[in-house]
Amino acid sequence: MDKLIVQGGSKIQGKVKVSGAKNGSLALMPATILASGTYKLFNTPNLKDVWTFSRLLGSLGIFCELNDNELFIDSRGINSYEAPYELVKQMRASFYVLGPLVARYGKAKVSLPGGCAWGPRPVDLHLKGLEKLGATITVEKGYILAEAEKLKGAKFHFDISSVGATGNVLMAATLAKGNTLLTNAALEPEITALARMLVKMGAKIDGIGTSQLEIEGVDELKAVDETTIPDRIEAATYLIAAAVTEGEIELENVNPYHLATVIDKLEESGCEIDVNNDKIHLKMQGNPKPVDIITQVYPGIPTDIQAQWTTYMLKAEGVSKITEIIYPDRFKHVPELIRLGADIDVSDNFAIIKGGKKLSGASVMSSDLRASACLVIAGLIADGETEVHRIYHLDRGYEAMEKKLIALGANIRRAKTEII
Ligand code: UD1
Repeated sequence: MDKLIVQGGSKIQGKVKVSGAKNGSLALMPATILASGTYKLFNTPNLKDVWTFSRLLGSLGIFCELNDNELFIDSRGINSYEAPYELVKQMRASFYVLGPLVARYGKAKVSLPGGCAWGPRPVDLHLKGLEKLGATITVEKGYILAEAEKLKGAKFHFDISSVGATGNVLMAATLAKGNTLLTNAALEPEITALARMLVKMGAKIDGIGTSQLEIEGVDELKAVDETTIPDRIEAATYLIAAAVTEGEIELENVNPYHLATVIDKLEESGCEIDVNNDKIHLKMQGNPKPVDIITQVYPGIPTDIQAQWTTYMLKAEGVSKITEIIYPDRFKHVPELIRLGADIDVSDNFAIIKGGKKLSGASVMSSDLRASACLVIAGLIADGETEVHRIYHLDRGYEAMEKKLIALGANIRRAKTEII
């Protein structure tokens, strides 16, 4: 197992190209189940979750090959409708194959994903939505079995706005007989991008980019090429890393529109930010002002930057509050930050951060992907060396993070760890 050793004290400065969005790719890849043929998905990030999803598609008989951020997929050989536990347990997004499989083949068997580091993450909305489209759902030895001779269009309201459930039900509805109306659908850019790819494939979808999606089912779809949108979470992570180290950064290949609320909050904290087409330039001098955030569905502040923002506010002279609405238990990074000297109190779904305390390097343990990123950023501002263990989480979702940070001036190295 690998760890990252971060030497504190360097400024993050320079230019960095933002990779394709992890969550964007994971939404586009299952769409290839819906139509037999060959696909090229450009700007696909080379990271572990994409490899895991490729293996999952491989287990269904779909060939995937990633070369230089171009993912080639050949779905003509699909020969299975079963997504095994070994792969689904590694990555919740595997559940995305349920809707496309049942829509196209009338049958899908997908392992239940289980919980995750920050508490239970139910899939009830995915299942209710597919049931509404006429699928019969049964649970058998930890697997969901979904069956339907032919899905039928229906009205379905998502009680909670869910990225994954919207993607799953939307993909299924494209091949259902008749019309489907989805309300309170997720607005996240990764879902909008999926809907656009589905339209390119021949799907009929109205209301893209809104929370109300109207889908007129078609008999078949065709394979297409598509480009993955830039990773807004990776982009925000580098902006925060530059801001907290009082650096200056230019992000390239980014969609600033997807980051509007994050940019507002960074400006409120004292950063100077310029936006120009697909570039964001940030400069920070001095300590940030304390700025509260509340995580919300898009276009609100994403839960996926909550941990990184927590680290940022450690540098602020004053008290700030973080309210986590999406995943109330998502504070596993806090005890690790406290090990570095942070003063943070968590109760219910909020954290109170008393900033301005000196951090000193120590060994810390990553609990999940974004927690790993926040610990690496904390290492940049701590005195001495911080060892971030279990960085396999980081490898899941950030393309070449340490290489990018080193190119931006960070002093980081990867080493083997004896801690499991
Ligand atoms: C996706 C992202 C993840 C991000 C999250 C929230 C991917 C691969 N992952 O995860 O990085 O943190 O969106 O932006 O895109 N819920 C239910 N029932 C369901 C499904 C969800 O109650 O059936 C709840 C969840 O517990 C959570 C909320 O809905 O409170 C939002 O979760 P959801 O949008 O579904 O997250 P994911 O799609 O799993």
